[in-house]
Formats: sequence, structure tokens, C-alpha cells
Amino acid sequence: MTQVETRPSSASAPQSLPQGAELLRFPPDFLWGTATSAYQIEGAATEGGRTPSIWDTFSHTPGRVHHGDTGDIAVDHVHRFREDVALMKELGLKAYRFSLSWSRIQPTGHGPAVERGLDFYRQLVDELLEAGITPVATLYHWDLPQELEDAGGWPVRDTAERFGEYAGLAAQALGDRVRHWTTLNEPWCSAFLGYGSGVHAPGRTDAADALRAAHHLNLAHGRGVAAVRAAAPGAELSISLNLHQIRSLTDSPQDLDAARRIDAVGNRVFLGPILHGRYDEDLRADTAHLVDWDRLVQPGDLAAASAPIDQLGINYYAPTLVSGGGSGRTGADGHGNSRFSPWPGAERVDFHQPPGELTAMRWSIDPTGLRDLLARVHAEAPQLPIFITENGIACEDYPTPEGEVRDPERIAYVQGHLAVVHDAIADGVPVQGYFLWSLLDNFEWSYGYAKRFGMVYVDFATQQRTPKSSARWYAETIRRGAVAR
Ligand code: NOJ
Repeated sequence: MTQVETRPSSASAPQSLPQGAELLRFPPDFLWGTATSAYQIEGAATEGGRTPSIWDTFSHTPGRVHHGDTGDIAVDHVHRFREDVALMKELGLKAYRFSLSWSRIQPTGHGPAVERGLDFYRQLVDELLEAGITPVATLYHWDLPQELEDAGGWPVRDTAERFGEYAGLAAQALGDRVRHWTTLNEPWCSAFLGYGSGVHAPGRTDAADALRAAHHLNLAHGRGVAAVRAAAPGAELSISLNLHQIRSLTDSPQDLDAARRIDAVGNRVFLGPILHGRYDEDLRADTAHLVDWDRLVQPGDLAAASAPIDQLGINYYAPTLVSGGGSGRTGADGHGNSRFSPWPGAERVDFHQPPGELTAMRWSIDPTGLRDLLARVHAEAPQLPIFITENGIACEDYPTPEGEVRDPERIAYVQGHLAVVHDAIADGVPVQGYFLWSLLDNFEWSYGYAKRFGMVYVDFATQQRTPKSSARWYAETIRRGAVAR
């Protein structure tokens, strides 16, 4: 159970704890971690038999990524993983969430695994275990082998079967060392940003394909769960969803309906199959002009997608504010991405910038969104443990002339969100871990290297790592097992 205690004003109180602060204690076995993903940090894009993924192709296509940045070198983690694990150990991390590059393990998306690719992950995991850090492996964080995209990508059913095969290969090779597995990271982005708005790889813009992709990602998740369980009995399985905390601009029927429709394609399109084995009727009806759901969803698909999981991963950054009716009240989309809203005229959905403080991504800062999401998920699946598999903030970080990087905004952001997690646990929501995004500054997808999410600053020219003040603060928080309010 969590506890709350008040820190007395005293000269002996640790420096970083404000006097009189309330100290919010977390359960002793809480998994304090950070997260990264393969394409964003690894580099070594052509080494060890790795073939291009859709993100290699996309980033090398002029105009797709800010400044023409690519993940060719990224933060050179493949060559510096020992240094990076040493840093994690120094900071006292209990867990590390990373992803496996499919095209490093199974370059074409077919056939046997490549030992050299697997060896990198074996060494990484061994290094983590040696340092006393629990590895949490994500099988897919957006980097589909290009060959599978050439064969149709996620809108094609066979991609889900290919994913199941790859998941089995990965679990056979690493299942003796890795207990925690996440099938997919943010399938909403793979489907709707990759095939709907096209701001992510592979950059296609077809609303029907986005929905087909969503279904095949649900199916792939189910195939992945089955394959990992078969290869590694005792494994714990999860999926990381970027659930949207959707708020309607007003209580008008149009705005409330817009919120309902975005909840359907933003959340329930994944929560439905995975938690409840169904696609809701309103989702099917809203999108019937795009896909024939009865043909898309084959017998057995929903049973596969709803195979029991051990944790649900939630990635949360900011709430989403919408209005409906095409009333002309358009505003900037708080996430800098055009959203999936294929409804014309009165059914159009507009996205707005929520009021208040913004991050360097121009995302709003609002921990109440996480609070509300946790309450919702817990109500829908009361027995299901939860990991916060991502939460964090991009800041305008820079080194001072003394070589320090001070990021009080990041500390405040994480502190505010951790307080919400604490309160949820106190209310009985079984949150078992928190993974700060990210360990290192890295390749922020279509923003390239222009946005820094790390608690460790990376000089991209020299690859030098410098822990920011937030890293020191997070280390102290982990050591204490508590956060101040
Ligand atoms: C979501 C993604 O999973 C991660 O790759 C990305 O860098 C962060 N959120 C920040 O945008």
C-alpha cells in the first residue's frame, strides 16, 4: 500500500525535498524505469545483417523528417550499450524498457533469425541483469521490415502472421533472460499516423487502410501473445497503448459526439478487442463507409486479440481536446499531428490546443488526464495490473558553460504525474511500474533530433552523455521510493 507522510521542516531534510513537502511513498516492489526504442537510439543501421525498416526508408525520403535527420547513427547505442547500462546502474534504475529491431533479428520479415542480431540483445540483456536491472522488451516499436511494407504492410493480414513468427523467434532466443514482454508499442500511431495522416512511416494516407492496419495490429498482438507464451512459459505479456484522454470543447451534442467518435477510433478500436474481444457497434457504424468489418474480422480474430495479458501498458503525455460539427472553431492539434477524422461536414472533428502551459512539443501539461485514464482503464478491467510504459516531456535543454544541463520543467512534469500515479495506487488501481520517456535524448520521429525527451543529455556530434538535473532527481526519487508534493 502507498502511504502519505509529511516531511517536517528540519535542517536535516534532504536538499532536494522542499520543506514541509508531503512525501508520497510507492510500494517497495514498484518498477522504476526508463524507456527507449530501437530505431530512436540504436544506430548501426546497416550492421550485422540488419536490413532497412520503414523508418529507414521514410527518414531517407526528402521532406519527411525535420532537417533530413535519420536513425543511421542515432545515439550509437549498439556500440555504447555497456556505457548506457552503466549509467542506468549509477542512476539506480530498477527496470529498462527497450525495443527489439525486427529487421536486425529477422531482416526480411521471413525465415530464420539472424544470430548476430540476436547476439546484440543477448549481450544487452545480460548487461542489464548483471546490473540488477529488469529488462522489459518491446517486440515492435514502429520499425516494420521494408520488405513487409512492400508486400502491403499492416493493412495486409499476412503482416500479423509474420509478426507472430518473429515474436516466437525472439522469445525462443531471449525468453531465458527476459520475463517481461510487450507486443506492440502504440499501435494507434502505426495505424493512424502511418497509414492515415501519413506523418509517420510508411507515410501513406488512406483512412480505410488505417483501420485495416488497426485490426491487423490487434491480431498481431494476439499472435504475439500466443507465440511468446509458447516459447517462454512464465513470460509476462503486455501491450503499450497511447490511450487518449479525450475532452470535448463544450457540452454541445456535436462536441460530445465528436469526443465519442474519437474515443472509438483513438481508444476503443484497441481496448475493445484486447480487453473485451469486440469492436463496438458505434465504431463499426461510424466507419462503415470505409471498411467492411464483417470481411475484415475473420472468425477467431477477436478471440486471439483478447488472449489474457498480464499488464496493460499506458503511454500518456497530454489530453486531447476536440469539437465537432465543422463549426469553424478549428485550432491547432495539440499533438502536432493531423488526426484521423475522415468525416466530412457536420461530422467533422476538429482538434484544439488545450489551454495552459505547453511543452517544447506544444503539448499541454495536465496530469489530470493520466488520473482520468487510469480510473477509466481500472473500471473497464478491474483485475488488470498497469504499467505506465511512457510519460515524459520535451524541453529546450542545453548545457551551461559549466557543462550542466538543468531541466526543472522535466522534474516538475514527472513529479506531477508521479503524484497522480501514487494517488491512483492509493485508490486501489494496481499500477506496478513507471517508465520515464526517455533515458537518452534521441531521434524523435518526424521531428528528428530537434526535440529532447531524455533525462540524459546527448551531444549528437560527440555522443557524449551528460545526466540532466532530472536524472539526479529521478535517482533520488527511486532511492527514496517516494515523490514529494
Ligand atoms: C511515443 C513513442 O512511443 C515514442 O517513441 C516517442 O518518442 C514518445 N512518445 C514521444 O513522442
